[in-house]
Amino acid sequence: MKKAIIAMFAVVAFAGSAFAAAQDSYEYKGGSQGKVAFPHKAHMKLGCTKCHEGNSKKIAMNKSVGHDKLCWKCHKEMKKGPAKCGECHKK
Ligand code: HEC
Ligand code: HEC
Ligand code: HEC
Repeated sequence: MKKAIIAMFAVVAFAGSAFAAAQDSYEYKGGSQGKVAFPHKAHMKLGCTKCHEGNSKKIAMNKSVGHDKLCWKCHKEMKKGPAKCGECHKK
């Protein structure tokens, strides 16, 4: 019985670390133009693999990713979402 309880705790602890929960939104520093908010929850309906390779893999953010590879690129392609400096960057 004691062993079974310990095993159960081990499973719960493992599941907790393997599936890091997504926050509803993220905020990036964004440099001189001011910080950039990313409402994650509002983007989820687009489909996880639009942005994540594999299951919820971490995405390292920088200017090139934010502009040319992910955020701004998609907004331009879809003609939806912020597409001007001051719509993404807030001081
Ligand atoms: C428009 C792009 C985009 C879409 C679509 C998207 N995500 Fe994300 N997601 C991100 C970004 C950016 C982050 C924050 C950076 C990071 O830590 O990966 C993030 C973070 C996460 C994290 C936290 C990662 C961690 O280790 O902290 C999880 C889990 C996650 N997303 C799951 C999902 C799932 C599940 C879906 C689909 C239902 C989804 N995401 C759709 C861009 C997206
Ligand atoms: C795969 C396409 C895609 C990617 C990648 C993407 N977006 Fe979007 N984004 C959208 C669409 C589509 C909308 C418009 C949603 C709507 O009007 O319902 C949107 C809307 C937004 C909005 C406005 C939300 C609101 O409530 O008005 C912000 C802010 C935003 N995106 C920031 C970002 C940032 C920052 C990133 C990168 C981390 C990003 N997006 C990546 C497609 C994308
Ligand atoms: C779709 C959203 C979006 C739009 C539109 C956008 N940016 Fe960005 N920008 C980002 C994201 C996301 C980053 C990465 C932020 C980070 O890594 O802290 C970024 C990074 C930057 C950085 C680098 C910050 C640093 O220190 O590395 C500068 C400078 C910048 N943007 C200027 C601009 C200017 C100028 C415009 C308009 C011509 C613009 N951005 C339009 C989302 C956007």
